[in-house]
Amino acid sequence: MVTEEDLRSDIKFYFDGQVRILDNVRATDMVMPWLRSEAMQTGTKEGCNEGDCGACTCLVGSISESGDLRFSVINTCIYPLAYLDGAWLISVETLSRSGSLCSAQSGMLPLNASQCGFCTPGFVMAMVYAQITKKDQTPEQALAGNLCRCTGYGGLIEATRLAQSQPLDRAFVDEIEGATAVLRQLSRGGFSIANHNSRIDAPKTLEHLLDLRKNFPSATLVSGATDFGLWITKRLDRPSHIILTKFCEQLLLREIRSDIIEIGAAVTIEELENSLVSEYPELQEWFQRFGGPQVRCSGTLGGNIANGSPIGDSAPVLIALGASLTIHSCRGHRVIPIENFFIEYGKQDLLRDEVLVSVLIPRRARIRRLAVEKISKRYDQDISIVLAAMAEISGDKPSYRFAFGGMAGTPKLAEKTMESLNPDDLTSDFSPLSDHRAEAWYRLAVSKNLVRDFLDGDASRE
Ligand SMILES: Cc1cc2nc3c(=O)[nH]c(=O)nc-3n(C[C@H](O)[C@H](O)[C@H](O)COP(=O)(O)OP(=O)(O)OC[C@H]3O[C@@H](n4cnc5c(N)ncnc54)[C@H](O)[C@@H]3O)c2cc1C
Ligand code: FES
Ligand code: FES
Repeated sequence: MVTEEDLRSDIKFYFDGQVRILDNVRATDMVMPWLRSEAMQTGTKEGCNEGDCGACTCLVGSISESGDLRFSVINTCIYPLAYLDGAWLISVETLSRSGSLCSAQSGMLPLNASQCGFCTPGFVMAMVYAQITKKDQTPEQALAGNLCRCTGYGGLIEATRLAQSQPLDRAFVDEIEGATAVLRQLSRGGFSIANHNSRIDAPKTLEHLLDLRKNFPSATLVSGATDFGLWITKRLDRPSHIILTKFCEQLLLREIRSDIIEIGAAVTIEELENSLVSEYPELQEWFQRFGGPQVRCSGTLGGNIANGSPIGDSAPVLIALGASLTIHSCRGHRVIPIENFFIEYGKQDLLRDEVLVSVLIPRRARIRRLAVEKISKRYDQDISIVLAAMAEISGDKPSYRFAFGGMAGTPKLAEKTMESLNPDDLTSDFSPLSDHRAEAWYRLAVSKNLVRDFLDGDASRE
């Protein structure tokens, strides 16, 4: 049982060569306003203030379970300040603390990769993230979360290619060593900060999280905050009490068992990719098109499901794979098929004292074929018009699971079509809406074509 005395009433993080201690953080505070107005580091820009443009991009370093420093790239406009606890905030100023430009910055100069310069710090941070992670990705993929309004992308893409091919600068490696030593002395999570009619709880254990959920059912659970952040910056919500899930060990679980892959609800989309792509390589492109790097490094699987969105990208995939959810409260826990979680638009099977704790994803075994198709207006970082996930499950007679997002008020199985294998039956399964993304007839037509293509790819069907 955690008592008030066990909890800190401040956050501590490392920034610009110092440990910062803040005891006045509010539930609505995001990193960018703190950086620009409190720390007076104005290299980080405010563009859209909703996670779309990347002008506010910074990096965060934190100590991983294995004791190494692990980096994330974040949109500071929608990243709660409280999540910096125990972490290293790296802004564009950090890169040149030694007095000279870092290689990603100097590489941009001969390529004329900056014009007005407003987007430049954000691009530099995305390039440095690509340089650090050495992920196998194209420059375009590394920059998918950043927009430039004037200079054009040619120089930026070339500068990124150059940065990806170069080792980290010696000065930055020294910064990493210094920061790692400091972070090893800091703890992450386990605080409760109450002030200015605001309260933030950051439990480290599931028991504490469930206890808080029971005692404060109207507090807002916050995972990666890529939805929550916009409620603050765009809808101007002013929640008085938030409970952060991303410090809670049990929600960060990633375990591959003989029959199941269990993924904690607070695992980010980026970490999920590392766990799932070796089992389901067909998901590689789908991951690449889920937001941009900044959204994938913050947004979590649990948040993507619990928000109940009919156009959230993970639900159709998980429904097609036959995944289940584990939902806990102080009263016990239950496991439900994910498709049963979505009751109707805006209504999920989650009581006020319950928390989504993990997702159980079946291992490949009987899934012979899988196809995931995201239809959106823009290739990168766009919300789906339709997302179709189609699986063929082997057996004496193969069976099929076709799940769709964007076709109804919830993500849903196309039950009649799965039975008949006639794409025209999608008209019975769904009555989609027309909205600013697409008209109903288009949604139906494109979905029928996707099912037809999937079935045509099945040589074994007569
Ligand atoms: C620029 C941008 C691009 C995006 N692109 C995509 C995209 O391509 N595809 C897509 O699907 N989405 C996209 N999104 C939406 C969003 O990023 C995802 O839905 C994300 O996965 C939400 O997760 P989160 O952890 O950030 O949720 P949060 O904002 O932290 O929470 C979302 C909701 O879930 C609830 N919640 C969170 N965790 C739990 C839990 N453990 N138990 C119970 N309730 C919980 C919260 O209370 C809240 O109501 C995008 C968002 C932005 C800003
Ligand atoms: S200001 Fe545009 S993503 Fe943050
Ligand atoms: S250089 Fe002006 S917005 Fe990119």
